[in-house]
Amino acid sequence: MLTYQTLPARHVSEFAAAVREGLLKPGQRELPSKYLYDEVGSALFEAICLLPEYGLTRADARLLQTHAQEIVDLLPSPIHVAELGSGTGKKTRWILEALSRRQRTYYFPIEISPSALAACEKELGQIDLVSIVGYEQPYLEGLQAVAQGRYEGDHLLVLFLGSTIGNFDRAAGEDFLGAVREILRPGDVLLLGTDLEKDVATQLLAYNDPAGVTAAFNLNLLGRINRELGADFDLAGFEHDARWNYEERRIEMHLRSMQRQSVKIPAANLRVMFNQGETIWTESSHKYRPEEVVRMAERTGFRCEGQWIDDEWAFTQNLLVVE
Ligand code: AVJ
Repeated sequence: MLTYQTLPARHVSEFAAAVREGLLKPGQRELPSKYLYDEVGSALFEAICLLPEYGLTRADARLLQTHAQEIVDLLPSPIHVAELGSGTGKKTRWILEALSRRQRTYYFPIEISPSALAACEKELGQIDLVSIVGYEQPYLEGLQAVAQGRYEGDHLLVLFLGSTIGNFDRAAGEDFLGAVREILRPGDVLLLGTDLEKDVATQLLAYNDPAGVTAAFNLNLLGRINRELGADFDLAGFEHDARWNYEERRIEMHLRSMQRQSVKIPAANLRVMFNQGETIWTESSHKYRPEEVVRMAERTGFRCEGQWIDDEWAFTQNLLVVE
């Protein structure tokens, strides 16, 4: 395959190593969900956000649009904005506009998907008094770089929106908040958006839409392995499966092998046998309770100064201030 040689070598070997490790895992095989977002996957995720069954992104944006001024009024000054996983940055506009009415503002989107980063720079590049500097890096590395580069008196507002934290196991999510806290200074702020628990039928439909967009999003991960690692996955031999795990209070996406089949992945130096019915676990989306977010913040060195809940789709924005 020629396509993967055009990518930085670091990405190929990292991806290949992760695929190898995940597919060789004893018991449940798995693939890290961050790899769902190549150019095709990012476009499919954008489409998911337009689906009537997937209310999460609209609720996130609605809360930001409705409460942007109130949120900004709670922030110290001067303050600049770093966003972990900006995506196209669409819903960040409200906060940046409210902030730029009171000060010149730097915006640092931190995003591993170059296509999303480019879209974000295009979407938000035109706001008066806002300067964008993108970081194509993993979250904590990018945040570290942003935090180190700032002036003594400048505060940071870190945006972690869209319930991306839900991709982590609950314990790992809490560890992640703690790691963010370690990079920040007292008075800095984290705005954390999390999806809330709701009735199971609604949640299942959000991850198993009738048009099959989420199924395509999930299956594209195998397509990406074919494209970038020269593999021969037959996408028609796998089906999308979204389940609610009652114990862990999370949606799990899996890809189920519909027959016994073998797959070669040359760049990962791997050949895998899948049994009929066997699954690859590709993503978790943990759902939270409002008080749970407050407690988790307190345990990791933050104080919750504001919590807003959408009344159409149970989702919450939390303004967490570093103690
Ligand atoms: C972007 C991680 C929040 O978990 O709801 C959407 C990704 N996966 N449909 C989520 C996703 C399937 C989404 N997050």
